Amino acid sequence: NQGKNADGDAKDKQLEQFRINNEGKKMNTNQGIKVSNDEDSLKAGVRGPTIMEDFHFREKMTHFDHERIPERVVHARGFAAHGEFELYEPMKEYTRANFLQDPGKKTPVFVRFSTVVGSLGSMDTARDVRGFATKFYTEEGNYDLVGNNIPVFFIQDAIKFPDLIHAVKPEPHNEMPQAASAHDTFWDFVANNQEIAHMIMWHMSDRTIPRSFRMMEGFGVHTFRFVNDRGKSRFVKFHWKPVLGVHSLVWDEAQIIGGKDADFQRRDLWESIEIGDYPEYELGVQMIEKEEEFKFDFDILDATKLWPEELVPVKKIGKMTLNRNVDNVFAETEQVAFHPGNVVPGIDFTNDPLLQGRLFSYIDTQLIRLGGPNFAEIPINRSICPIHNNQRNGFSRQTINLGKVSYHKNSLANNTPSTSTEKEGGFVHYEEKVEGRITRARSKSFDDHFSQARLFWNSMSPPEKQHIIDAFSFEVGKVKSKSVRQQVVDMFVHVDKAMATTVAENIGVNRPTGEQSKVSASSPALSQANTIKLPQT
Ligand code: HEM
Repeated sequence: NQGKNADGDAKDKQLEQFRINNEGKKMNTNQGIKVSNDEDSLKAGVRGPTIMEDFHFREKMTHFDHERIPERVVHARGFAAHGEFELYEPMKEYTRANFLQDPGKKTPVFVRFSTVVGSLGSMDTARDVRGFATKFYTEEGNYDLVGNNIPVFFIQDAIKFPDLIHAVKPEPHNEMPQAASAHDTFWDFVANNQEIAHMIMWHMSDRTIPRSFRMMEGFGVHTFRFVNDRGKSRFVKFHWKPVLGVHSLVWDEAQIIGGKDADFQRRDLWESIEIGDYPEYELGVQMIEKEEEFKFDFDILDATKLWPEELVPVKKIGKMTLNRNVDNVFAETEQVAFHPGNVVPGIDFTNDPLLQGRLFSYIDTQLIRLGGPNFAEIPINRSICPIHNNQRNGFSRQTINLGKVSYHKNSLANNTPSTSTEKEGGFVHYEEKVEGRITRARSKSFDDHFSQARLFWNSMSPPEKQHIIDAFSFEVGKVKSKSVRQQVVDMFVHVDKAMATTVAENIGVNRPTGEQSKVSASSPALSQANTIKLPQT
């Protein structure tokens, strides 16, 4: 493999302990007994029945019977690679995160790209959002940036995620369509959950049929928080900008390629790394001062909104290079467990209600997907820091904890938490002010669902607009329920009347009678131009 052990990659050195090469070796069982025959089971007579005492047959078959684990409930189909992140400039003023202090510092990373909807065996070029999840193996522990290739999301509150996914996955009575959003339940969800409007405009655009994982942006989507060593906090959004630029397929290409080579995008990633043409992405951050939280006429905690780059520029702070393919897809790509809750000191959460729910969901699903509470011990998930705590036992525990003390506080082992000083580096959650009554109500500041959707549409070139109309016509045109088709065009008239009318004509429903909404843009410049500078256009 290219790039192996380059620059003393601490993660690669750790993985080296777990690599097994069978080449030229004599076979044995998992108990270490040398095997004398691996093709005939033990029988009573050459034509007789198989005998239960054949421990080699039993072990081999049992292990095979248990080879499959549940696929991820979303993002099942993915492909991953190792690499490194190198910082351009010190970020000390903004964050105390150790891997963001010294220019030139390299941090090992593992990145998994994925589609959201399709099952493990679906095709790479489906029209779908792509996952872009990065694990940074920092000297202060694992930091996961679990992003997508679209800067906004479908919903605003995590409690709706199971509904969204039930609607977009294949319909339960016939398990169709696979890996596509062209069906009744998805568009019924869209029309009845209108905060989705902005995301759907991106979804119908060429952004959801990327040409290559190497030519895709990544976005943390949520508003996170940087905290510096003086405790000062700023809001931050994360971006990955591909050095090759953003490129998409057109729909006919996506369909033909998908039919001829379902592995098109994973093959492209694998092969470019094998020949040393390493994919590169720059890490960008947008930052908003704490005092400016309410300066915008959208809520910066609303995951259906982006921060216009005209208003909040993207500062490029480092570069990630993917330089090494995995050794084993199951061991690494399938067993990796990303979690937006894996943060390091200097990076913290906000009250974004979508982010808050994700903080629960990932560990919860991984407990079942990866068979119990010890999945952090799986080689790909291990931090490069030695682990010392009082967690013990559970299915498939690997660590042999010495001594008799597994509790805090104690006087026998004298193992204690760290303080939050720079020297000791203990994680302390940001002391966010909270106020108000406990309620299920939604903030009114989350109510504008169409302004940014409309700015997005207005910012498209004529061919891009045509592609969006074609995508709507193709996807919604496949919906059997005429009422749902009608509801969809009636909804998207709020984005653009001419667009919704053309789609209505294409899919055989009445022209929408409503009026497009007025854009509430965040600055006079944006309102006048009525467009927005989109990432990497
Ligand atoms: C995977 C839940 C929103 C990006 C997953 C998984 C779950 C999940 C359960 C499977 C994890 C596993 O089996 O290891 C949720 C919930 C969300 C949400 C409840 C909203 C409330 C988002 C958003 C993004 C995102 C907003 C992007 C910013 C990803 C990615 C993966 C993933 C990239 C695949 C990680 C991998 O490659 O292993 N999500 N998700 N999700 N999610 Fe989310």
